[in-house]
Amino acid sequence: MPKLEKITLVTGANKGIGFEVARQLAKKGFRVFVGARNEKAGRAAAVKIGRAAKFLKIDVSDPGSIREAASELAKTIDHLDVLVNNAGIIVDGDDAILKTTSGQFETTMRTNALGPLLIAQAFQPMLAKSSAPRIVNVSSSGGQLHDGADGWSPVYCISKTALNGVTSQLAAALPKFAVNSVCPGWVRTDMGGTNATRSVEEGADGIVWLSAEAPQNLTGKFLQDRKVIPW
Ligand SMILES: NC(=O)c1ccc[n+]([C@@H]2O[C@H](COP(=O)([O-])OP(=O)(O)OC[C@H]3O[C@@H](n4cnc5c(N)ncnc54)[C@H](OP(=O)(O)O)[C@@H]3O)[C@@H](O)[C@H]2O)c1
Repeated sequence: MPKLEKITLVTGANKGIGFEVARQLAKKGFRVFVGARNEKAGRAAAVKIGRAAKFLKIDVSDPGSIREAASELAKTIDHLDVLVNNAGIIVDGDDAILKTTSGQFETTMRTNALGPLLIAQAFQPMLAKSSAPRIVNVSSSGGQLHDGADGWSPVYCISKTALNGVTSQLAAALPKFAVNSVCPGWVRTDMGGTNATRSVEEGADGIVWLSAEAPQNLTGKFLQDRKVIPW
């Protein structure tokens, strides 16, 4: 029997692109779990979205927090349809590969690449109960290798290349799932800054499309503006 209620978890949904994705999916009728590491900000975001939204504490850089979040969610719901791995960071001083420290590298990789993998593993049993499970990994064109690097935020870019690799491997391991990476473009958020060319609504569009409308057999790809792009 197909499950009627669509349920999604969006990580890093207390602000920026993640909040907008959660808001738009709630508007489309999804029940939304607002994943955030900061309880106050996460609860406030869920209240702002409305009755369809609930806060779920999850620090994507902490394997213990990921496990707790998965068991907490399993107490409330019997399936999960869409996981949006949105949370991400650029650490201070990530501006020159020859000066990159092991701390910067480890923190960035743990949050941006390992976190989404561990979250996919932890929530996979609940996703497998969906009639059309989807994982959407929010990546960046900065992670593309096909045209070479330009030196901008090197560790962040490496982490997004790794995230695209995680996407590709998960798609191969989960043939019934749609697993894709998506670049939102340059978006006006705390990360993107005020000079960015896109609003959060524009940035969220491709993520929401992959979460709710894209063909289920579209998987293992990297997309921007609803189109497959090379990486
Ligand atoms: N903005 C852009 O131009 C742009 C371009 C390409 C890709 N992206 C990607 O889009 C995603 C969202 O970025 P954004 O622009 O919306 O950035 P943002 O406004 O800085 O928001 C980032 C979100 O991630 C959360 N987060 C960071 N580390 C976390 C952790 N360990 N556990 C849980 N949550 C954590 C933050 O929570 P706190 O509030 O607690 O810090 C916040 O909710 C990121 O993956 C980013 O790499 C953004």
